[in-house]
Amino acid sequence: MPRLDPHSFFDPDHGVARHLHLDLDLDFGTHVVDATATLHFAEPREGTLVLDTRDLEILKVTDGEGRDLPWSLGDADPVLGTPLRIERGEPTARVRVRYRTSPGALALQWLSPPMTAGGEHPYVFSQCQPIHARTIVPLQDSPRVRVRYTANVTVPEPLVAVMSAASVGDGPGPRPGTRTWRFEMPQPIPSYLLALAVGHLASRDLDPRCRIWAEPEVLEAAAWEFAGIGDMLREAEKLFGPYEWDRFDMLVLPPAFPYGGMENPRLTFLTPTLLAGDRSLVNVAAHELAHSWTGNLVTNATMNDFWLNEGFTVYAERRILEALEGEEYAALHAVIGYRSLLEDMERFGMDSPFTRLHTDLAGIDPDSVYSLVPYEKGFLFLTLVERTIGREAWDRFLGEYIRTFRFQSITTEEFRAFFDEQLPGVAEKVRADEWIEGTGLPDNCPEFRSERLEKVEALVERFTSEGMLPTRDETDGWSPEEWQIFLKSLPREIDPDACRRLDETFGLTGSGNYEILVNWLVLAARSGYEPALPRVREVLLGVGRMKYLKPLYEALVAREETRALAREVFEEAKDRYHPIARTGIEAILAS
Ligand code: BES
Ligand code: ZN
Repeated sequence: MPRLDPHSFFDPDHGVARHLHLDLDLDFGTHVVDATATLHFAEPREGTLVLDTRDLEILKVTDGEGRDLPWSLGDADPVLGTPLRIERGEPTARVRVRYRTSPGALALQWLSPPMTAGGEHPYVFSQCQPIHARTIVPLQDSPRVRVRYTANVTVPEPLVAVMSAASVGDGPGPRPGTRTWRFEMPQPIPSYLLALAVGHLASRDLDPRCRIWAEPEVLEAAAWEFAGIGDMLREAEKLFGPYEWDRFDMLVLPPAFPYGGMENPRLTFLTPTLLAGDRSLVNVAAHELAHSWTGNLVTNATMNDFWLNEGFTVYAERRILEALEGEEYAALHAVIGYRSLLEDMERFGMDSPFTRLHTDLAGIDPDSVYSLVPYEKGFLFLTLVERTIGREAWDRFLGEYIRTFRFQSITTEEFRAFFDEQLPGVAEKVRADEWIEGTGLPDNCPEFRSERLEKVEALVERFTSEGMLPTRDETDGWSPEEWQIFLKSLPREIDPDACRRLDETFGLTGSGNYEILVNWLVLAARSGYEPALPRVREVLLGVGRMKYLKPLYEALVAREETRALAREVFEEAKDRYHPIARTGIEAILAS
């Protein structure tokens, strides 16, 4: 029988966990977590229970009465990991597993002190999405399953533990020099939203519902950058309904964090590359906030339906931006998204199955095919529907969608059925099935026009036809978005002398905005503009965000002259990259 979720051994016939209790004891010397996980089921069950695991050392399994349960590990699957088979002799509603994690657990990145802002204390953070929770907890690791959780986390003093949960106190740990932090997550969440970070952390309140966490050295900058989060939250509630998670706190991680942001409920994780000093990159915070409705409340049932999470969230993110910054601002972001989408689609090939919204990832590691397709193609499809039926009707649909499926997980088929029921005839009009099941971009794709965009495009056109670069006057007042569009619209490769003039006029190599900087460095590296290479090296050694690493390595590898540099920098940096980033870059270097 095919599995319900191609990325999990989860079988609902074995019972569905409703609550998880974790006891975690972290060893920063060995990078091992000594742990107990207790799963509570809705009702007592007997017989086989299969849990997802990967690289876990299982020590003991007991039932609700403390009786030993026989268990065995099945064959390891390269994508799914190793099924843990437990035999419940008597009906029991509780299963407890004593286990230890491996130092290579994919959900955790352990940082040595030099990789932190303070440089004195170690740090560890988790990243469970899409299917890495099983490397730290044996559980039903499918987004179809939601659990509430409680946790006791023991860490060496003076480190602080935070989780995607309410912090309910801390006290002396079981050994001298340790402290135990307690957590309770009252809202049920899919396993990929389980999250933990431990470091030398401090916090500051930004709003009655929002607090920012970071190392003390970056707290001030982080608090300034995200000071507007309370307004954003209120704007989002006006658009999408009540905020159901009580608090929206944020944690700014060390630069090794491999993503821009991660929507861990009650504690969004953010990369420090957002700290531009001018609030120009807060759209990532808007995106993670938007997931509080689209993704965390209404969740994709499997990674094949990932577009329901990300497509709706990019759409919701841009509605928040539009409400706060205006239509043109949101439109410029849509244009940046569209250009980046085309780059990703062209990399796959326009008729590749990975350009579909609804995917079939059975046997495929979702990390290996991560792209902007579910994000930006999803956004374009939803925008098309909005433009077709009008904003009023569309907002009614959105509200109904969120209310109907809140705290549930849905498939693309369920979405389609709901769509037809709520909006009869619209699917045919917009050619929804071509959008959802087809490859590439349908020809009724919505377009975004704006005056500012046209000015940028005119300057790009002038450069490509006459070789004339923009002047300072012409770019006076350009926002980071205009710079990004300009850099993304230039030919893939330009004359190194044009690079030099661009850099001399606009100081791009010195840009403090990572989106401008990396777009520029990619262009410079592709064009063989050598003076930019020291900065490329610095970024590759200092930052772990995959969105920046991958295109930079790709640009270096594409040129004979810089291929050796790519290998050399990777050798130096690889131990500092997240294991998932490392694997992704190894693939680029091997190509
Ligand atoms: N949930 C994602 C990050 C993610 C996706 C991690 C899949 C692992 C597997 C998060 O919400 C996200 O999309 N982050 C983006 C930000 C953005 C599109 C504004 C990122 O990290 O770049
Ligand atoms: Zn997202």
